[in-house]
Amino acid sequence: MPDQGGMRAVWDRLLQAAKETHEGNATLSAFCPFPDDVQPQDVVPYHIPGAQLMAVETGLHTDRYTELRDAFVTAGPLALWRETYKGTDIGQDFMDRFACYCLIGVGGAFTSQQMCAWVVYMPPELHYPWHHHPGEEMYLTLAGEAVFMVEGAEGVVLGPGDTSQHESNQPHAMTTHAHPVMAYVVWRNGFETPPVLTI
Ligand SMILES: [Fe+2]
Repeated sequence: MPDQGGMRAVWDRLLQAAKETHEGNATLSAFCPFPDDVQPQDVVPYHIPGAQLMAVETGLHTDRYTELRDAFVTAGPLALWRETYKGTDIGQDFMDRFACYCLIGVGGAFTSQQMCAWVVYMPPELHYPWHHHPGEEMYLTLAGEAVFMVEGAEGVVLGPGDTSQHESNQPHAMTTHAHPVMAYVVWRNGFETPPVLTI
């Protein structure tokens, strides 16, 4: 584990890579400009099984987001990984293999009043059931691929550079098959209310 200054350097490199990717994607920038009020905050690392799966994953292929993909992996050991669905009936396999940590927002290495940002990783052959939240959301697929499902539309396979937008409280789900997926996820509002499974 790097020292305090080393850890901050890891986070700063990740933030810079996220900013460059975010501002380089017109759809994402139109949905929510990258925030101009980002401030650092301390992180208390907390690890979950999926974090280790992402650390050793070899299938996260991408043609243009290698820097951000690798920066999310490098910061993984320093992150507070989330257990959003702990205590629900989502099942042990999901709890053991799904992985997500916050970059900007609660538990993240940075704060902003304008936007929250996370990384989501799913190994092959995993289903993230239907869920929803008040926050308006956009996924940018960085590496690998997954079937993204949004209520009211056909499921679509999205790969690097593709986005999926979720309106306030619009149920959405995703499934991986032969490949894993890594996505950069942002909310532009509704920060105080976490996701819940859609019954
Ligand atoms: Fe969501």
